[in-house]
Parts: sequence; structure tokens; C-alpha cells
Amino acid sequence: MERSQLVAHLLAREDLLQAIELLGPQARGDARKSKKLGEVAGFCVWILKYVRRFLASQDTVRIAEFSCGKSYLGIVLALLLPELTGKQARLVGVDVNADLVAKCRQLADRAGLKDARFVAERTLLFQDEQGFDLVIALHACDTATDEAIAKGIQLGAPLVMAVPCCQNQIRGQIKSGHPLTAMTEFGPVRYRLANLLTDVLRAQFLRSAGYHVEMLEIGSPRLTPKNLCICARKLRRDPKPGRDADYRRLKALFGVKPKLEQFCPGVIGEDE
Ligand SMILES: C[S@@+](CC[C@H](N)C(=O)[O-])C[C@H]1O[C@@H](n2cnc3c(N)ncnc32)[C@H](O)[C@@H]1O
Repeated sequence: MERSQLVAHLLAREDLLQAIELLGPQARGDARKSKKLGEVAGFCVWILKYVRRFLASQDTVRIAEFSCGKSYLGIVLALLLPELTGKQARLVGVDVNADLVAKCRQLADRAGLKDARFVAERTLLFQDEQGFDLVIALHACDTATDEAIAKGIQLGAPLVMAVPCCQNQIRGQIKSGHPLTAMTEFGPVRYRLANLLTDVLRAQFLRSAGYHVEMLEIGSPRLTPKNLCICARKLRRDPKPGRDADYRRLKALFGVKPKLEQFCPGVIGEDE
């Protein structure tokens, strides 16, 4: 199912969208909610494809959604999974904001989700005994995306999928001291390059940690400029020595220090 079909599928469930506040009363949506619905649907398209393909033998999918906000993504996904894949969903949403976490509980109850739990905690500090099959994060601000990726790796999740948000951490580090300063002297160019560089470093970091990575889009940039989706699936074999070479080369080229390395030590070898 493509994004527009999934949006139509969801819009046909007015009651459900109203229950989780992705649609206003009398089926009226405001522009912000329609945009969020489009983002959630676009992300769900890839998640459902990955679940069907790589978690085919599982009856239940254990999901951790980090920086969940109101957990629109997690709740919609947990409702779609049984309907569209025949698999049950067990959702844990994590957000540092306790008020939002209380709201998530309310929305999940209203949507009739039985197997959902929400935790007020910083992603990096989240601990859980149960394993997870799928770690997701939609527009986790700045390094909160790095925390979600680090936590996904540390939890050994077979699938880690993130659509990042603002990438401020690297932006300030690429003003000078690298071979592409003729590009980065221009503010908007530096901004765009920092976004790409941050996300490619994340993808290469996941590769170094033993994941196969694709970079996809959840929709056109007209839907959201924050449309890049990092989709990672854990390979069965252990990462080969030197698997971090591309990550290290790219990092060295720009002389940057990504937070992800600090959040998830032991993946990248020591600098020579
Ligand atoms: C831009 S909102 C996105 C919310 C939601 N994923 C969505 O797409 O609607 C970012 C969320 O990340 C949460 N957040 C920021 N840093 C965090 C961290 N380190 N750990 C957990 N949550 C965090 C914020 O409280 C906020 O709810």
C-alpha cells in the first residue's frame, strides 16, 4: 500500500483518527494534523514493508517508539499491524515529557489499544528487560534521534527505523577546517549539508554496528522537508573488522564529532 492509499484507509476510520486526535471534530482536520497524518502514513508504509519482509515469522511485533510525543506513529502502527499484517503489536512509547506520556495513555485507551505502555524517561536512560523487534523514532529533535539509534543498537533490535528532525549538533562544526569550505561558507548550504552529513553518518554508524541500511523517503519534500528515513535491519553475522572505515573516513573529512559515538561506545574503533 502506498502513502496516499494508507492516508485514505486511515481517513475512512474517522472515529479512530478522532480518538487519537489526528482529526478534529466533525471530521475536520487542521493543516498541522493533516501533515502529521501524511508523515505517519508515509513512515508506516516502510515500517509495514520491513515488518512483512524481515519479521515474517513473528506473531507479535514488540515496538519501542522513542521521543514518541503523543505517539501518533506508535498508536497508528499498533492499530494497523493486526489489520494489515495479521500480527499483534506490543507498544512501548518513551518520551522525556511526562505530560505527553500521560496524554499518550489517554489516546491509546481511547483507541482501544490493550498492549501499550508509556514511559516518561530520556531515551538514553530507558531500561527494559523485554526485547524489542522494532525501534522507531519520528522527528526526534536533534540528538534525540542519535539516542534512539544508540538505544536500538544497544537493545539489539533487529529493525531500527528513524525519520530525523533538526540536525543542529553537526551544523556548528562544519564552518571551517575541511575541504568543502567553499560550500559551507554559505549559511543555507551549510544547513543542508549538515542535515545530509548528520544522517549519512548515522547510516554509516548503523552499518558499522552490523546493520544493513537503506535511506528512503516517507513522502515528497512538499509534505515535509524532514522526509528522509533511515531504515536499518540487523545482519545475522557479526560486523567484519574494518566495517567502520566509511564512517571514519567521512567523519575525518569534515573533522566532526557525532554524539552518536558517545551515546553508543564500542561500535567505532579508536582513531589512529
Ligand atoms: C518534535 S517532537 C516529535 C514527537 C512525535 N514523535 C511526533 O512525530 O509527533 C520531539 C519529542 O521528543 C521528545 N524528546 C526530546 N528529547 C528527548 C530525549 N532525549 N528522550 C526522550 N524524548 C525526548 C520531546 O519531549 C518531544 O515530545
